[in-house]
Amino acid sequence: MTSGIRLGILGGGQLGKMLCLAAHQWDIETWVLDPNPAASCAAIANQFIVGDFNDYETVLNFGKQVDVLTIEIEHVQEEALRVLEDEGAVVHPSSKALSVIKNKGLQKDFLAKHGLPTAPYMRFGSEEAIRKAVRDGSLRFPFVQKTETDGYDGRGVSVIQTTDELRDNLLMGASLIEPLIEIRAEIAIIAARNQQGEVALYPPVEMAFHPEANLVSHLFCPASIPDQVAHAALKLADETIRVFGVVGLLAVEMFWSNTGELLINEVAPRPHNSGHHTIDGHATSQFEQHLRAVLGYALGPTDLYRATAMVNLLGEPGYSGPVYYQGLEEVLAIPGAKVHLYGKHTTKPFRKMGHVTLVADQLEEALGGVQKIKNMLHVISPAL
Ligand SMILES: Nc1ncnc2c1ncn2[C@@H]1O[C@H](COP(=O)(O)OP(=O)(O)O)[C@@H](O)[C@H]1O
Ligand SMILES: [Mg+2]
Repeated sequence: MTSGIRLGILGGGQLGKMLCLAAHQWDIETWVLDPNPAASCAAIANQFIVGDFNDYETVLNFGKQVDVLTIEIEHVQEEALRVLEDEGAVVHPSSKALSVIKNKGLQKDFLAKHGLPTAPYMRFGSEEAIRKAVRDGSLRFPFVQKTETDGYDGRGVSVIQTTDELRDNLLMGASLIEPLIEIRAEIAIIAARNQQGEVALYPPVEMAFHPEANLVSHLFCPASIPDQVAHAALKLADETIRVFGVVGLLAVEMFWSNTGELLINEVAPRPHNSGHHTIDGHATSQFEQHLRAVLGYALGPTDLYRATAMVNLLGEPGYSGPVYYQGLEEVLAIPGAKVHLYGKHTTKPFRKMGHVTLVADQLEEALGGVQKIKNMLHVISPAL
């Protein structure tokens, strides 16, 4: 079965590292392409190739050397993937799904066209066009601006509420604008679909955001949403992965608004930060599930074993340089705390450096652990 299979992964960050760990459990040979020689995967992939996953020739040549090609980042050269597919290569997610999802404008168009609920939006070719729309009254504060390409972890998202913010915080290039939604809860569902078209869904997680950085500080499962909202969200995630036709994982981020609506915020066709807790808290980790899906095997059970929370270890503001995890030993003494570090040598403000999962009989206990960890663990750089 799996041994002898060569899995290619475009991107060598922490998602790739955890995918490699799952692959090694099944004796799958891992090949990883990333431009950074010090990427998380460098020390763990069977073959780590330093190269640009946005370069046509590099991706084409890499793809020809592996049996199954997948991604851990969506900003890759999809034209090369299309050629590989035409030549009969196994590529998941497909170049078609990727080309739509990696551009937030096209992604929103796709959701809207298929009747999937999402916040209303307008697309703009430049920041000047946005200023003009504000001047002529067709666009009003407050709104959220998102760059169409290359945004991640809150970079590429700007909340504009005043004329001062319009002057100072507008992002350059093509972007989309959404109204600022009043959010009661932000949830995510990891969906998986295999080559046979079977779908498995993880229970919704609820995400808590860092007030400054617009990225997840911690999350927990089960989410604190009523059962009927969870059911509706699961139904929506199921429909979404089928409509996109993705083989592999699709992380579906949603808002449950103050007005009671469920809106899809965005989707990602790969393992996702909001699924990290599945390694320690669920019957099958998202990484094993991704492998099962792209290799054409049966999907694994997604049951939650015990209440689970996950806290992201983010680089502390004010520190850049060689990383030091201050307080790590104390964290290891917390019962049920599982530490995952990503192998990044240097920290910078809000960089994702690792995560800790907390598993407990009661969610309150796991969430108590999250607070303790936020107080005791600091990702810093020693003073030189
Ligand atoms: N229309 C909106 N209204 C309110 N908050 C939003 C809106 N869009 C995004 N956000 C907030 O910003 C975060 C990051 O936006 P998102 O589009 O998910 O970008 P990223 O690619 O960085 O994850 C969201 O998780 C949410 O907290
Ligand atoms: Mg997001």
